[in-house]
Amino acid sequence: MSCLNVPMVDLHRQYLHLKAEIDAAIHGVLDSTQFVLGPEVEAFEQEAAAYLGTRFAVSCASGTDALTLSLRAVDIGPGDEVITTPFTFVATAEAIRHVGAVPVFVDIDPDTFNLTAEGIQRALSPRTRAVIPVHLFGQPVDMEPLMRLAGARGLAVIEDCAQAFGAHVHGRRVGSFGTTGAFSFFPSKNLGAYGDGGLVATDDAALAERLRSLRNHGTAAPYTHTEVGFNSRLDAMQAAVLRVKLRHIERFNARRRAVADRYDAALAHLPVTRPARRTGHHVFHQYTILTERRDALREALREAGVASAVYYPVPLHRQPVFESFCRDVHLPNAEAVAERCLSLPIYPELAPETVDRICEVVAQAL
Ligand SMILES: Cc1ncc(COP(=O)(O)O)c(C=O)c1O
Repeated sequence: MSCLNVPMVDLHRQYLHLKAEIDAAIHGVLDSTQFVLGPEVEAFEQEAAAYLGTRFAVSCASGTDALTLSLRAVDIGPGDEVITTPFTFVATAEAIRHVGAVPVFVDIDPDTFNLTAEGIQRALSPRTRAVIPVHLFGQPVDMEPLMRLAGARGLAVIEDCAQAFGAHVHGRRVGSFGTTGAFSFFPSKNLGAYGDGGLVATDDAALAERLRSLRNHGTAAPYTHTEVGFNSRLDAMQAAVLRVKLRHIERFNARRRAVADRYDAALAHLPVTRPARRTGHHVFHQYTILTERRDALREALREAGVASAVYYPVPLHRQPVFESFCRDVHLPNAEAVAERCLSLPIYPELAPETVDRICEVVAQAL
């Protein structure tokens, strides 16, 4: 078979598709010379809040910062435990350590790869102060039972929505259930900037105010600093790009779902586990299968010129950085999934015929 040359994401193709709008938006920022925060950023925050269905959206410099700022804003710190998933990007738990709290990893549902309310319930201790559910790969966590549990126990819920912009469940967008919803605009995300960026969504006015202060050096009024904060502001170039892309996000996510549908149909008769869609509207940041023959499949894909990726090969309770919190911690579902998971290329511009060709390679390899 000829070399297919398929990357995991193709940001260049998307840029060409949006070039006129993006170029105009960036030139608008150059003309304004208002580069950090300012009207473009405020307009994006308002549009994002309207889309997500929250009262407020406070932008910041990255998804990692959106999590850290959220934890700071709800006063999580040393002595507190924060429950989260071991099967996520390291940033989720890194944020917990940045505020001095202890991450408590709870095993995942083996089908959705996400936390469940039952799992969280079993891990509660008198020190538990917050939960960070991650809507992994774009699949929403089943938020209603989780929010009932958190409400009954007085826990803060910081939704990690880094991979799930636009996903929804129980009739609401992810990021609108928790105390806050933390988003990343890393370029490859479903809503991606042209650099780093992040956002915290919340319905709580006091929390939004605190977040605005924390992201800007703990500034309560010009040159009045009431607490130690961060330099974590979104720049106007990113806001301008994000405003353009926000107008297209529904179409982009629909295209991702169509690609996932095509993979699902073509892989149905093969010995792989396809992504579950048990909870809500999945937006397929990744299309991740489970296979017993991962190495052989990766090699066959590589030979055919098709990229693939293992998200994530080592669950967080097995990472050296969290070792001291995880002695004797065994999380069999996360460990089993980490050994078998393989993500295939998915992006809005991926052509149906290319998906078919990729599936032929998979079929041959297996
Ligand atoms: C689940 C998850 N959480 C947090 C982050 C951190 O986002 P950022 O890279 O914008 O700091 C990412 C992104 O890489 C992520 O995938």
